[in-house]
Amino acid sequence: MAQSLFFSTNIRPNIHIKGEEQWLGCFALKAEPIYLKFSSGCGARARARARAAFNADFKDIEIPKQIEIPKQWYNLIADLPVKPPPPLHPKTFQPVKPEDLSPLFPAELIKQEASGDRFIDIPEEVLDIYRLWRPTPLIRAKRLEKLLDTPARIYYKYEGVSPAGSHKPNTAVPQVWYNAQEGIKNVVTETGAGQWGSSLAFACSLFGLNCEVWQVRASYDQKPYRKMMMQTWGAKVHPSPSNLTEAGRSILEMDPSSPGSLGIAISEAVEVAATNDDTKYCLGSVLNHVLLHQTVIGEECIKQLEAIGETPDVIIGCTGGGSNFAGLSFPFIREKLEGKINPLIRAVEPAACPSLTKGVYVYDFGDTAGLTPLMKMHTLGHDFIPDPIHAGGLRYHGMAPLISHVYELGFMEALSIPQIECFRGAIQFARSEGLIPAPEPTHAIAATIREALHCRETGESKVILMAMCGHGHFDLPAYEKYLQGSMVDLSFSEEKIQASLANIPNLVA
Ligand SMILES: Cc1ncc(COP(=O)(O)O)c(C=O)c1O
Repeated sequence: MAQSLFFSTNIRPNIHIKGEEQWLGCFALKAEPIYLKFSSGCGARARARARAAFNADFKDIEIPKQIEIPKQWYNLIADLPVKPPPPLHPKTFQPVKPEDLSPLFPAELIKQEASGDRFIDIPEEVLDIYRLWRPTPLIRAKRLEKLLDTPARIYYKYEGVSPAGSHKPNTAVPQVWYNAQEGIKNVVTETGAGQWGSSLAFACSLFGLNCEVWQVRASYDQKPYRKMMMQTWGAKVHPSPSNLTEAGRSILEMDPSSPGSLGIAISEAVEVAATNDDTKYCLGSVLNHVLLHQTVIGEECIKQLEAIGETPDVIIGCTGGGSNFAGLSFPFIREKLEGKINPLIRAVEPAACPSLTKGVYVYDFGDTAGLTPLMKMHTLGHDFIPDPIHAGGLRYHGMAPLISHVYELGFMEALSIPQIECFRGAIQFARSEGLIPAPEPTHAIAATIREALHCRETGESKVILMAMCGHGHFDLPAYEKYLQGSMVDLSFSEEKIQASLANIPNLVA
C-alpha cells in the first residue's frame, strides 16, 4: 500500500507514490494511499479528479503516525562554527574537569556533557521505554488556522502523550538508566512546574531507584496533583525552600514566605547530592546532556515533515532552561547550517523572567546558593527570584549555555510575552484544537498566533512549527484564574534585575 500520493501539476496530475524509500512516477494507479498531498500549483479540478479516482474523501494532509524512533541523539556542538565556552569551577575559575562533576553525575552523563561527537547512540533499553509514547504526534492545527483565518499552516509536535504529560521523560529515562547502570540507588532533583519531578519519579519507578524532589513552593501550593503524581510513582516531595538544607534555611531566614525559585530548589538538591556519597543529582534542563536527550523530538519531526513534503518557515518553542526548545530546534539548525532549509528559529520566554531578552551574557551560577559550576549563559543573576507566574517551569534565572551560545551566534531569535496574552492564546487553542496546554507552551502558542495573524495581513502561507511540550491537566487553577478575569501580568522589575545582576561573580569572560 502506498503511504502517500503527491500531486504536483494542475492540468494532468503528475502523481507520485511515496513509498518507504523511493518516489515512483506513474499515472494509472491501483495502490491505495493513506493520504494525499497537493502542491500549491495543483488546482481545484485536479484535486477533485484525484479524489474521485481513488473514490475517497481524503483530507489534504494527514501526518503519518508510523515513522521510526530515532536511534541516536544529535549533538549540535559538533556542527557549530565556534565551540561554546566551558563551564568553570566555582572556586578556581578553571574549566571543570570530569572528576569535579563526579559527586553529582554518573560517568556516562559527564562524558555526554562534554562530548564533541555528532551523534550518540540511544541505549536499547531506553529506546524500549521511549516506545511507550514515541513517536509523538505531529498535528496540523487546522481548526486554529480556521479560527484565526490565516493562510499559514500551523503544525505542533505534541510531547504531552508521555506518561508524565510532557517532554521531560525523554531525558529522565536515560538519566536514571545511566545512574542505574553505575549502581546508584538514590537520585535527587528540583522541580518547577512539577513536570520534571514527576518525570524523574516515573523513570525511577521503572528502574527501582529512590527519588527525592524539591518542588518550588509556588507550584507545590498551586499544583497539589503534580505532588501526588510524584508520590504515586514512589518519590518523596519537599516544598522548596525547605528547612532540610543549608541553602533552604538561609533563604527562609531572609523571607519565611519565599515562593521559591528553580535556582533555590537546585541549590537544595545539589547540596544533598554533594553531601551524600550514595546519592546523585539529576537536572531537567539547562545542561548539554539534557538538551542532547531531547533531540529525539526534532529528529522525529524532521522525518514527519519530510513524509508530508512540508518545510518549516518558522519554528517556535517556549524556553525555561531551554530543553524542549533545543530538542525540537537543534536538529533543524543542523539542516539550516547544511543549507537545506532556512527557518527562523524563535524562543519565547515569559515577560516576568526574560533571561534571553533582558539578561546579560556572562558566567554565572546555575543555582541561587552558588554551589554549581559557573556557566556562561544569559542570566538575570543567580539570586533573581521571578514573580510567581503560572508557568512555573519558565521561572529560571538563566538560559542553557548552549542555547545562549547559539543565540549569540545569531542562529535564533527571542521574544518575551506576558502571561495574559499566553492564556488568551491557550483558550483559543483549547477551544479549536481540543488540547489544554501546560502553562509553559502557552508562550509558544501566543507567539504562533502572532505569526499566523501576521501571515493573515501579508497573505503569506508560511509553515509554522510549534513545540507543544506538555498538557495542562494539572494546571487548571491557572485557567480558572484567567477565566475569572483575576490573572494579572507580572512583568520583571528592572530594579530587581539590577540588584541581582550586581551579585554575579566578577569574572572577565
Ligand atoms: C511542560 C513544560 N514545558 C516547558 C518547561 C520549561 O523547561 P525547558 O525550557 O527546559 O523545556 C517545563 C519545565 O518544567 C515544563 O514543565
